[in-house]
Amino acid sequence: MKILVTGGLGYIGSHTVVELLNNNHSVVIVDNLINSKIEVLDNLKIITKKEIDFYQIDILNFIELEKIFKKYKFDAIIHFAGLKAVGESCDKPLLYYENNVSGSINLYNLAIKHNVKNIVFSSSATVYGDDFKVPFKEEYGLGTCTNPYGETKKINEIILTDLSKTDKDLSVVLLRYFNPVGASKTQLLGENPNGIPNNLVPYIAKVAIKELPYLNVYGNDYNTPDGTAIRDYIHIIDLAKGHLKAVEYAVKNKGIEVINLGTGKGTSVLEMVKAYEKASNIKIDYKIQPRRKGDIETCFADTAKAKKLLNFETEYDIEEMCLDSYNYMIKNIK
Ligand code: NAD
Ligand code: WQD
Repeated sequence: MKILVTGGLGYIGSHTVVELLNNNHSVVIVDNLINSKIEVLDNLKIITKKEIDFYQIDILNFIELEKIFKKYKFDAIIHFAGLKAVGESCDKPLLYYENNVSGSINLYNLAIKHNVKNIVFSSSATVYGDDFKVPFKEEYGLGTCTNPYGETKKINEIILTDLSKTDKDLSVVLLRYFNPVGASKTQLLGENPNGIPNNLVPYIAKVAIKELPYLNVYGNDYNTPDGTAIRDYIHIIDLAKGHLKAVEYAVKNKGIEVINLGTGKGTSVLEMVKAYEKASNIKIDYKIQPRRKGDIETCFADTAKAKKLLNFETEYDIEEMCLDSYNYMIKNIK
């Protein structure tokens, strides 16, 4: 298949491109590099030994984006392009609605105009909000989000659901990711945000390489076994493989499906700290801080639907996630 991958140089997109190319699909990447580097493209070529067509285009630019749709006949689109910093979205809601909603509307308009019938969208477990009991099941639908970022995911889900009602030939998979961590085994792709990371594992990684002195653990008074919050961490390679299965499912099945991509296992903050210490053999200092605003206590996936529809099961455990994160960090210390 020929697949348009928006945001394909980002963290999840780049790992997915590897899986797509290794399974004999061809990809065209569109990315404006707002949160990625062009070196990722070189690394993708090194890893896969394949040619990749890349265009530095903002999906908000309808005219430039349409040139791509005129140049290629796509079988499917995997839509990753978006801004993802929860805190920033609270400070700059319009930026997030414009980029993540208006940008997506451009893309969906072009998909319809150019008859691309298969779309896989990067949604998030964040759309469940704090409204439901774990494990989160797809049938629960949309909960209450505490931030504009989450709202942009919900709006995209609603738009694509409505679109699928207007065109019976359309096939949409809304993938609700839980917490992706880790890196490629090649150590050429991974996540190393500039500045102070918002997410747990990138933060621990920077403590491990002594770029930050200690981890702030946000809250130890949750109603969990060790008092710290619980999440469903999924290895980035497993997540990428889930996309391969999802896009292959989309071309064979019409209609819309919401599918969780997680492991179904919950891990607390302190368990993750211990796993990282074990994997890296480095002591991770931490200080207990008050709860972080907007955080929920426990979040993990019901994985039955991913197993049933996609035959998707995860392979890697948290220690391997930590090991791959650490190896990537060591390799990429500047
Ligand atoms: P990322 O920031 O690493 O990748 C996103 C890519 O999209 C970047 O390369 C960025 O440059 C590009 N991009 C952003 N806006 C663009 C625009 N207007 N035009 C063209 N390119 C644009 O993020 P990621 O972690 O790889 O996430 C990919 C998608 O998955 C995002 O939509 C994100 O919201 C979603 N998601 C991420 C997580 C997570 O924890 N990483 C969890 C759930 C959902
Ligand atoms: C995990 C746990 C923190 C940092 C976020 C987005 C979500 C999705 C994935 C995109 C929480 C604790 C964290 C730190 C800590 N992204 N923590 N110290 O909040 O589950 O999800 O990323 O869709 O939308 O909200 O992930 O990694 O930020 O936090 O104690 O320095 O680690 O409080 O309990 P989260 P996270």
